[in-house]
Amino acid sequence: MKLDPSLAELPAEQLLIKIAEIFGDKAAFSTSLSWEDQVITHYIFSNDLPIRVFTLDTGRIFPETYSVLNSTRERYKKNIEVFFPSTEKVEELVTQKGASSFYESLENRKECCFIRKVEPLNRALEGVECWITGIRSAHSENRSQLPVIDFDEQRKIQKANPLANWNLDEVKAVISQFNIPYNVLHDRGFVSIGCQPCTRAIREGEDFRAGRWWWEQNDKKECGLHS
Ligand code: ADX
Ligand code: SF4
Repeated sequence: MKLDPSLAELPAEQLLIKIAEIFGDKAAFSTSLSWEDQVITHYIFSNDLPIRVFTLDTGRIFPETYSVLNSTRERYKKNIEVFFPSTEKVEELVTQKGASSFYESLENRKECCFIRKVEPLNRALEGVECWITGIRSAHSENRSQLPVIDFDEQRKIQKANPLANWNLDEVKAVISQFNIPYNVLHDRGFVSIGCQPCTRAIREGEDFRAGRWWWEQNDKKECGLHS
C-alpha cells in the first residue's frame, strides 16, 4: 500500500488519523521522546489511534528521557514499546573496546549507533508498512529536502514525517497548548537529544544539531536511522 503524496497537504493530526485508517497497527511511530515526538504521540494517543508507538532504549539515554517515558505512560494510560539492543552485541562491543569507543573514531561511533540504534530499529520495523517519524526539515541542511510523505528505499517501506514542515515554535506551541509532558533538558539548552555521552546543550546561535556528536566535524551527522 502506497500513501498518496497529496496527503502531505493534511494537517499533521489529520494525516495520522488517515494513516491509522489505512494501515492500522501496521503503522508504527518511533519516538525518541523529543518535543517533536511528544506532539505526535499526543495526536496518536489522544485520538486512540491503533498506530504502534515504540522507542529505542540504547542503554545510554538520559535519566530525564526515562522521566518523559514514565510521565507519558501516566498521562495517556498507554504503553510505549521499548526495544533494546542485542545483549550479545553490546557485551562484545564494550568488552573489546570499552564504554566510550564512539569518541575514538567515526567508524567506532557508527558501529555503536548501529548496534544500539539501527539494528533494534530494524527489528522494531519488522512487519511494519508505514513508519512515522518526528523529523523536521529545519533540523539540518541534510534534512532540508525532507518530504512529509516519503519512502525508505533501504527498508522498502512507506515513511511519513508529519512535522516535516513545522518550525520549532509551532512544536512548542502545541506542547504548551495541551500541556504535553516533555523532556526537561529542552529547558536547559538541549534541543536535539540523543544518547547522554553524545549530546550536549547548544549555545546561542549554534545549529539545531550542533550538540549531537559535537566532536565530529562532518555537518551531515546522522546515526543511520534515517538514510
Ligand atoms: S537521530 O537519527 O539523529 O538520532 P533525531 O534525534 O534527530 O534522530 O530524531 C529524528 C527522529 O528519529 C525522531 O523523531 C524519531 O522518530 C526517530 N528517533 C531518533 N531516536 C530515536 C529513539 N531513540 N527511539 C525511537 N525513535 C528515535
Ligand atoms: Fe552509541 Fe553515541 Fe550512537 Fe548512542 S549516539 S548509540 S552512545 S555512538
